[in-house]
Amino acid sequence: MTVLKMENYLMNINGEWVGKDLKTKDVTNPANGEIVGTVPNGGEAEAEQAIDAAFEAFQSWSETNAHERAGYLKRLNQLMLENEEELAQIMTLEMGKPINESRGEVKYAASFIEWFAEEGKRVYGETIPAHKAGKRLQVWKKPVGVVAAITPWNFPAAMLTRKMGPALAAGCTVIMKPSGESPLTAVKLMELCEEAGFPKGVVNLVTGSSSKIAKTIMENNKVRKVTFTGSTEVGKLLIKQSAEQVKNVSLELGGHAPLVVLDDANVDLAVKGTVASKFRNAGQTCICANRVYVQAGIYDEFVEKLSQAVKELKVGDGTDESVDIGPLINQDGLDKVKRHVDDAVSKGATVVSGGEPISDNGGVFYQPTVVKDVDNSMVIMHEETFGPVTPVQQIASDEEAVKLANDTPYGLAAYVFTENVARGMKLIEKLDFGIVGWNDGAPSAAQVPFGGMKESGIGREGGHEGIEEFVESQYVSIGME
Ligand code: SIN
Repeated sequence: MTVLKMENYLMNINGEWVGKDLKTKDVTNPANGEIVGTVPNGGEAEAEQAIDAAFEAFQSWSETNAHERAGYLKRLNQLMLENEEELAQIMTLEMGKPINESRGEVKYAASFIEWFAEEGKRVYGETIPAHKAGKRLQVWKKPVGVVAAITPWNFPAAMLTRKMGPALAAGCTVIMKPSGESPLTAVKLMELCEEAGFPKGVVNLVTGSSSKIAKTIMENNKVRKVTFTGSTEVGKLLIKQSAEQVKNVSLELGGHAPLVVLDDANVDLAVKGTVASKFRNAGQTCICANRVYVQAGIYDEFVEKLSQAVKELKVGDGTDESVDIGPLINQDGLDKVKRHVDDAVSKGATVVSGGEPISDNGGVFYQPTVVKDVDNSMVIMHEETFGPVTPVQQIASDEEAVKLANDTPYGLAAYVFTENVARGMKLIEKLDFGIVGWNDGAPSAAQVPFGGMKESGIGREGGHEGIEEFVESQYVSIGME
């Protein structure tokens, strides 16, 4: 693996790389604590400049046609695929994801650009039968305007492209505000947007203080849409701030996914699905299984097989091709995982495998862990862990599974393992979750709607719904007499 050159990266506003006179923010590799780059610590002024640039560019970009816009997006998709290795390496170094997962994320991220390049051509309006002669009733679709995309550190490429793909395809202009923990992937993406030839101001990148930049975005009326992935806490704040200007918001927030294994499940498949869901990205995924409910008849077999599978996962620096589990993002992340496991153990749960932090060369690692005999009183069964820990609880019936699964303010993803179609359908119909993996631990894809119910969010990303978030209906009643 080539080593990323430690550099002072810049942000991009109105087609210019700017910010070299600003203070900088370090980006640290969580696998060893080394600084891998810096970005400008932008704030209100830079956010204002990006908004003005995006607003100006919107006037002409919104007048291009969907086929032209698809041309730019297809070039970007192609460039992302050609630069897969560099993007993947940057991602692994700045946030720790194992290199093979990073490569997978680049393909996943590019697939949103490709999907929305095509989907932009299918933003159909409507003609509605009139109630009187001499009238024609139509619904036109208009791009919503300037879009701010505020994204988290755990998927530094895919969360951006899942937002900017549909926004650009719909005719909106974009301000990217990546997380301070992993902004370097966004810098590289910005370079690729430049290479793809997007006109100046159509895509802008601002780095720095999340609170100052977000506040400026929320207070500026030129920004008509904010699309955010992150915590429910911040999502609620954005909803409050959006009220002042009735700003359009899409929110993909926290989750606390239940994974239910019924006694007729294929246990090997359920174990495979649990590992895929839970241990991807070291458990730092909004849709990862956070609590596992297993029916009594197969409980012991499931726990045994899961713990065997988990023991085989190799922990280490994600740049090592053979590593399955990288570091956690930072010390706070590690402390939270420890707190959840300690709380469960103090209330009677048993650690079957793992259960300890690993100190390795300044990195922030936790052993992949299985904890059995948990119950609903434990913090881990209510709070998002964001770490490589699977708590397993025994359940008696389908009814109990539904009751426990829905006992959360979150409603992002859920997983069900059963070979019985009727039983699976009845159970899933009762689940209040936006995404369900049925005998499937990896449900994400560009062409499907991704988003949550309840406190897990508003709106959907991906699929044909994804672009609807960036257009508004304009009803036009045409008198023909
Ligand atoms: C997320 O953690 O929100 C992203 C997961 C995915 O897209 O599969």
